[in-house]
Amino acid sequence: MGYWFEDPGIKGLLPLATAAGIRGLSSVFNTPMMIYGANVFSEAPGLGPGTIDHLNNKSLSKKAFIVTDEFGKRFADKVEKFLLAWGYETECWAKVEPEAPVENVKECAAAMTAYGPGLIMAVGGGSVMDAAKGGWVMYERPDLEDLMMFNPLAPLGLRKKAVLAAVPTTAGTGSECTGAAVLHDHSADRKIPIASAELMPDFAILAPEFTMSMPPSLTLGTGLDVLAHASDAVTCIAAGEMTDAMGLAAIEMAFKYLPRAVANGRDREARLRMLLAASIAGISFGNAGASLTHSFGHSLGSIFHIHHGLAVGFFIPFCLQYYSKYTDANEKIARILGVPGKNRKENTDNAVAKFRLLFKELNVPSSLKEMGVSEEKMKGDMERLVLYTREDIDSIFSPRPMTEEQCEKIWNYTYHGKDIDF
Ligand SMILES: [Fe+2]
Repeated sequence: MGYWFEDPGIKGLLPLATAAGIRGLSSVFNTPMMIYGANVFSEAPGLGPGTIDHLNNKSLSKKAFIVTDEFGKRFADKVEKFLLAWGYETECWAKVEPEAPVENVKECAAAMTAYGPGLIMAVGGGSVMDAAKGGWVMYERPDLEDLMMFNPLAPLGLRKKAVLAAVPTTAGTGSECTGAAVLHDHSADRKIPIASAELMPDFAILAPEFTMSMPPSLTLGTGLDVLAHASDAVTCIAAGEMTDAMGLAAIEMAFKYLPRAVANGRDREARLRMLLAASIAGISFGNAGASLTHSFGHSLGSIFHIHHGLAVGFFIPFCLQYYSKYTDANEKIARILGVPGKNRKENTDNAVAKFRLLFKELNVPSSLKEMGVSEEKMKGDMERLVLYTREDIDSIFSPRPMTEEQCEKIWNYTYHGKDIDF
């Protein structure tokens, strides 16, 4: 079986279609309507238009289908109560499995099709939002035979049947603000990204109280994902002024509020700021791109089953060092972190030092060895690690190309936590 991202035509076109130079000619900056803060699911009329008025304006009927999982069910119940109070009919499908396996997404689509909603509400973490996006495509386009083969550059024609509102219960994935979803193909044990500008949710509704019960380890992992999205967006080939503004704001916010959210999950301000930072970083990388932190992180996650956020966040300092000779983008990061240097090397060294300091404070491992990765297994799987990393769709957005030899070298350097000096 093939995947769309293995098609050489699409692979060649995608960086051209998104590269800064081409986008400069005619660009679209895509975001959902964002509704955030305390009391976003109010059941009583307030001052001015509230969440329900915005939903009513776009929803294609008063039938809402809520997608969630076991963990998100308690929050989905609140959303359901809110919708019922405002006269919607609802059905709640709480069967999303971790990592959104393709078969599970097909079940979600079948239930959605049987119900026929005009509004889809995804209430949960990345897997839930991604499963809802996949289910939505299949509900709208039953003629598409293979979800894993649709071309991200071709029109899909969604929103004939329903619109999508995303309600994240973690602060990291940014899926509520991107046109991408990552599904899991169990038959190949591989993560399959799908993407289309049309997959951008119509609404991102951010309720900080939904993220309060995340344990510190999940708060940390998802927060590192925010930093990886933002630093990739700012350094990748498709970076531009608008995505930079948001990516840099997200970096600044995560440096300030992630330690607080990890230390005290009941810190309401830190929770809201991290939820916002996740969405802002999501808009940034959703419009620019993720790059090597995610190529390495996806490969590490696939083979060693390490949490996505920790896996991608770990690679940030190493990637900044690897990019250093090919881009001035590290200067923007050094500046926002308050440590501008006089040249590329100083900017990179200073930005990396700031990340290392933050990681130390948060007990993020400084090497794969410290993370508990077995050297023997890594050596045995090196061919696969290099292949997955280089084939990952995010690699095409790297400001610096990467040969097989360089890729293997980076794996070996990161195993020992050694600075990338080539
Ligand atoms: Fe990510």
